[in-house]
Amino acid sequence: MKKILVTGANGQLGKCIQDAVAEYPDLKFVFVSKDELDIENTEALLRFFNKNNFTHCINTAAYTNVEKAESDAEKAYAINAEAVKNLATICTERNVVLLHVSTDYVFDGKKNTAYLESDATNPINVYGASKLKGEKYIEEICDRYFILRTSWLYSQYGHNFLKTILNHAEAGKPLTITTEQTGTPTNANNLAEALLQIIAQDSTKYGVYHYSNSGKTTWYGFAEAILLGSKKLKDANLAKINHYRTFAARPAFSVLDNTKAHNNLKLNYIDWRESLQSLIKQVSI
Ligand SMILES: NC(=O)c1ccc[n+]([C@@H]2O[C@H](COP(=O)([O-])OP(=O)(O)OC[C@H]3O[C@@H](n4cnc5c(N)ncnc54)[C@H](OP(=O)(O)O)[C@@H]3O)[C@@H](O)[C@H]2O)c1
Repeated sequence: MKKILVTGANGQLGKCIQDAVAEYPDLKFVFVSKDELDIENTEALLRFFNKNNFTHCINTAAYTNVEKAESDAEKAYAINAEAVKNLATICTERNVVLLHVSTDYVFDGKKNTAYLESDATNPINVYGASKLKGEKYIEEICDRYFILRTSWLYSQYGHNFLKTILNHAEAGKPLTITTEQTGTPTNANNLAEALLQIIAQDSTKYGVYHYSNSGKTTWYGFAEAILLGSKKLKDANLAKINHYRTFAARPAFSVLDNTKAHNNLKLNYIDWRESLQSLIKQVSI
């Protein structure tokens, strides 16, 4: 029986995976939060892997605060690169397939057509650079790995754009949202499902993949769709802004081309608007 370790299990993707496992009764899962297994702690990782016979590890643990990473680079690299290096080594030594999640922010955003896995990376912020270093370690160390780069994750869990917009609208706070970046909002529940499908289908087509929802929009377009779907648009004070100041630079364009994941891993294209609307309908966020 396949036995799968899921790290960072209290994060939004980790929680979405926990929700999705009911559909996979033939897979056995061990979920560990940061308190239960800190991936920076090599000794703890070793103890954990030696005690359990894992076949797969899904690493959702990450330093994800893009703004804070600019002034906290050491920590971002420690979690997103050095801890991932250790995890990659431990998985390789034990023949464990590593499924790792990375980001559209490995690109500089200068392209204007969807990014392919073969496109040159050139991160423009600390978070993106630290995640890219983690990817490189995995590619160097592992033979059996899947790196899924995703974008603009949201869900019913944690802190994310969907929840921020709804909370602001509810509180009657003005929403001034940038039109300067184009990307693809991705429902973390769809990403969770994709990761489990890869494991269930026993794919050996290892490598780097792009997996996001399909289509594209700006953050303003995303906010508008959220408010439309939740029927709060007419009451919300939504406005566009062109020069939204942030500490971290962000790629102006970071749409990912999902063709390789569709062809090699049989992962479906899921339209971002449809996925957003179904989540808004399903759960009261
Ligand atoms: N969110 C996005 O828009 C986005 C976009 C593209 C790619 N991604 C990638 O998608 C993956 C999942 O992101 P997410 O949105 O689910 O992030 P998240 O909600 O921030 O979850 C990450 C989890 O990792 C935990 N963690 C941090 N340091 C750890 C450590 N040393 N050991 C063990 N766990 C640790 C965090 O715990 P604490 O909260 O207690 O620190 C948190 O529970 C990440 O690899 C991220 O880089 C995210």
